[in-house]
This record gives sequence, C-alpha cells and structure tokens, in this order.
Amino acid sequence: PRPIDELTIWDDAKAMLRKARAEGIQTVHDRLDRQTPHCKFCELGTTCRNCTMGPCRVSEKNPLGVCGADADVIVARNFGRFVTGGAAGHSDHGRDLIEVLEAIVEGETKDYRIVAEDKLRAIAGEVGIQTEGRSTMEVARDVMDCFFADFGSRKKEVSFLARVPQVRKDKWAGLKMTPRGVDREIAEMMHRTHMGCDNDAPNTMIHAARTALADGWGGSMIGTELSDVIFGVPTPKMSTANLGVIKADKVNILVHGHNPVVSEMILAASREPELVNRAKELGATGINVAGLCCTGNELLMRQGIPMAGNHLMTELAIITGAVEAIVVDYQCIMPSLVQISGCYHTKFIDTANKARFTGAIHFDFQPRTAMKQAREIVSIAVEAFAQRDPGRVDIPCEPIEIMTGFSNEAVIAALGGSLDPMVQAIAAGDIRGAVGIVGCNNPKIKQDSMNVKLAEELIKKDILVLVTGCVTTAAGKAGLLVPGAIEKAGPGLQKVCGSLGIPPVLHYGSCVDNARILQLCAALANALKVDISDLPVGASSPEWYSEKAAAIGLYAVASGIYTHLGHPPNILGSKTVTDLAVSGLEDLVGATFFIEPDMVKAADMFDQRIRTKRKALGLSE
Ligand code: SF4
Ligand code: FE2
Repeated sequence: PRPIDELTIWDDAKAMLRKARAEGIQTVHDRLDRQTPHCKFCELGTTCRNCTMGPCRVSEKNPLGVCGADADVIVARNFGRFVTGGAAGHSDHGRDLIEVLEAIVEGETKDYRIVAEDKLRAIAGEVGIQTEGRSTMEVARDVMDCFFADFGSRKKEVSFLARVPQVRKDKWAGLKMTPRGVDREIAEMMHRTHMGCDNDAPNTMIHAARTALADGWGGSMIGTELSDVIFGVPTPKMSTANLGVIKADKVNILVHGHNPVVSEMILAASREPELVNRAKELGATGINVAGLCCTGNELLMRQGIPMAGNHLMTELAIITGAVEAIVVDYQCIMPSLVQISGCYHTKFIDTANKARFTGAIHFDFQPRTAMKQAREIVSIAVEAFAQRDPGRVDIPCEPIEIMTGFSNEAVIAALGGSLDPMVQAIAAGDIRGAVGIVGCNNPKIKQDSMNVKLAEELIKKDILVLVTGCVTTAAGKAGLLVPGAIEKAGPGLQKVCGSLGIPPVLHYGSCVDNARILQLCAALANALKVDISDLPVGASSPEWYSEKAAAIGLYAVASGIYTHLGHPPNILGSKTVTDLAVSGLEDLVGATFFIEPDMVKAADMFDQRIRTKRKALGLSE
C-alpha cells in the first residue's frame, strides 16, 4: 500500500487511515491500489459497449469497431453519455425539489413550507409569471408548472435562459446548443449514442454541451432556487469543519448525499425535546447533526450546521467510532460505507428508492410523512448510542472555524443592494477576477492538495475564489474560509474583503449551487453589457471524479467560462475530441478546458487569461 502521508494533506484523515489499517478496515485507497493499473482502452475512452456486435476496443492497430465506428466516434459517444449521467443526477435532484413544492402547493405536507416568499416572487417575475395581486400559493403553483415544463419537450428553451445575456443565447442558437428541455436533451443524448445514430464526433460534443447547459441553467438552477424558497436563502454565518465536529459525548448523526429535503428534516427532528431527552437518558449530552459532502453544504449554508468532511472523509468519519447513524439520500455515497458501518455500531440508513444500498436500513422518504420518518430515523440513531464501544472512539482533532452562507442575495445585500461595488472593485483591479473552484476528491490525487493549493495561489494574485461542493471543506480546513485569511491574499483582496469583513474565498454552496456562480457571471455580464466569455473569470475542478463534475465543467465552458481540470476525462484516445475540448471550443463558445496537474502553473494560466480579458474590457491588467 501507498504510505499514508501520500494519500492526504490532513492530519485528521491520516489519523483515521492509521486507525483503519490497525483495525483491518479497507478504504477507498486500498481498493484503488487493487484496481491499479486500470484498463488503458477505458482510460483513453476507446472502449465501446453500446451493442452486442461488440464490445469493441479500438487502437492504431485495430482502428474500427465491428460497426465501423472509429476512435473519434467512440470517444465522443462515451463522453456524451458520461456528461449526460451527471446532468441527469443534478437535474433529477432539481426535480425532487419541484415535487416538494408540489406537495406544498397541493396541501399534502405541513412539514415543508415556503420560507422565502420574496425569492419565490422574484423567481416568478424572472420567468414571466404574474405576481402582482396574487397569493403566494397561486404564484407557487405557476412556478411549479413552469419548472416541471422545463423538463419536457414543449419549450423552445428552459426558463432560466431569461438570465443569460442575449449575445450568449444567440451564440447557442447558432450552434444548435440551446437547451430546450432537461429530460429531452438527456433522452436525445441516449438516442444519439445508440448504434447507428450520431456518428460525427463534433456534433455529438455539441449535444453534450447542450445537455450540460440544460443541467446548469435548468435542473441544477431549479434545484438551487427552490431549495432557497423552501429552506431559506443562505446568509453569512460562522460554523466549523473537520472530524472534530463529531462529539464524543453526543449522539452523532452524519447526513450525506446532496438533497436538503431529507437532511433538513433530520436536523429538525434532532431538536425534538423527546428525542434529546432520550439521548440524555442513554448517557449522551445531546444530539449532534453534522454534514458530509453536499447535503452537508446545504445545511451549512442555511443552518450553519458543521461539516465533518468531504468525499474522501466519508469513510474516515465512521472510523472515528463515534457515529451512531449515517443518513444518506443520493449521489457520491460510496457503497463501502455500508461495509464500514458494519465494522462499528453505526446504523447506515438510506432514504431514496432511487438510491438503495444493500444492507442498509431503508426509509422511503416522502414529503407527506417526512417529519414522522425523520423522527424514526433520529430515534434509531439515539438508541444506537447504547451500543457504542467507547474504547474504539478516536476523534483526532478540534474543529476549525469557517464562514459560510454566500448566496448571491447575501453578497448583493453585503454590497449595499447592488452588484455595482463589485463591478467597481473589478474595474479598479482590487478584484482582478474570480475563479470558482468546485467538485470533488479523487483517491488518485493526494486529498485536497490541489484544491487548497490552487485557492492559495489565486488569492495571492487578487483573484477572488468561490468554492462549492467538496472544495468547501478543503478550503475551510486550510483556514481560507475566515475573514482573517485575507493575510494570505494580495493587496486588492485584502482591501475589499477586509472592508466587508469577508474571507477571500467565499463558500457558495453545494454542487448544484454552481448555478449560483452561473447566475452571478450572467448578472455581471449583463451589468457590463458584455458576454460571459468577456469576463475575467474562470472555473476549476482540480480533483474531480464524477460524471456530475464533467457536466458542470462542460456547462461552464459552454457558458463562456475558461475551465481548468486537474486531470483529463477519458477522451485522450481521440485527437478530434481532445483538440475540441482544449482549443476548438474557444472559436465556438469563447472558452475551453485546460488540463494542468501543477497548481502553480494552473494559477498562472488563469492569471494570463484574466489579464487578456481585463485588457479587452479596457481595464488595467
Ligand atoms: Fe462495437 Fe460499434 Fe457496437 Fe460499439 S456500437 S460495441 S463500436 S460494434
Ligand atoms: Fe456534490
């Protein structure tokens, strides 16, 4: 096995990896070692399993599949389906929020309600729904119908394209890249990549971009906006992060997955006096809910709930031996968590019929019965406290402070009601530009080494950093999410962030909340009367691993945002597809991907790009 020091930059992770090895528990790192080396054809993207005349593997020696498909076609089809898997994930999450809104509108639930009426009305106005003189429920019903329709086939474009600068929309229309309906683009990609359909790699790639745009400006954006409507618009607040947020004297419940629909209810139930008293009867001092991954981000942004860790911390959190229950919804949940829970007293509870885990306790979580089910789940966790073995508990550190809650609404409020001060700070060069660092961990990369390094390098150059998803915990643990982190930033960010009392790295939410970053870019572009691709901005996913991350990267690029990846997707087997991704897209959509494993170089690339864009806008470099 690889030495523990090479696997992660964090002491809490190292301590738990040592404990895992001592207790004979396998982790993701051990399984990666056993899977390495990987299949070269699959790495290059040149394997096709789309029909039973194959499967085929193409190479220089054997350049065509049985049907005649070459490497370009096979790689583009594989990448198209990969992106589509990601778009489907985020967008189906968005749909689940519409269904909760439906349950509210139909009066089927009292457990959820419309918390942010102003936001509901604002959104309705943006998508052309009449709000004046109408009740909240009337407006909500129309919003619900409008968003359900965004998933279908009858619209010419998804509703939130109303936010996109016209020049960008014209560009998309010219390329046949306008996202029409979320499910439509996803289904069409499956059709196109069936044997004998779209056999022109660039054409397939265009549709991949369209599908990704349907996610970014459709499903994901709906997910974010309705989560704000139902659970509240995030506002800045302090919280804590790392494994130290797990408390030895409390019943610990970890929520993991992506959707706040379940985790918000678990949090509410954990505060019920009856359950807290039962926890005390069993010798605990209370019930502690902490987050993992994105549902953790959702609770952190809105409720200030502490964050136990990101993707590669999920197994390790259980290994503290102090987790009574891990409650999951969907996405990014390693099935190994069931196995590791089984090594302790930890109850593994799944809550979605579309994401069941063999060996889990299953709840079919529904809006109608949410609170009742959440109470039952919390009760299972509380009772498990009695089975905890104190001799196996090891919580390796004290938590670190972080600041969270930066929705666009909160940022605009902090700026005094409009984006103008931000535009002025950009014009003055105090904020030279902005980069969103998003996504995951990947066990092939030393955990969080790139996520943290890139953020540090960028803020030094007065480039504001926005983080979402698993990069949040990375930045937080590195001390970058507190106002004091301006010490590590350049003079411009020191000035601007210092005067506002905010960190130079802003926590912008979960992975679906990358839609907030899209919205911010669109708003800035509209304010400056330019295209998004004219802005001094970028995006990066240094340690990405998932299909969703690929969809995010592609909607960022297709929206005109220059996007960095720490390692390439499995496309290198096609020169056509690779060239398109890293250069050809520039001519089409005004941005490309760039692949760079060295974060100092990646930061320099962003710096260069931002200089060019600033110059073109007539600003100092
Ligand atoms: Fe092989 Fe073509 Fe079938 Fe793919 S679609 S498995 S390349 S024959
Ligand atoms: Fe996520």
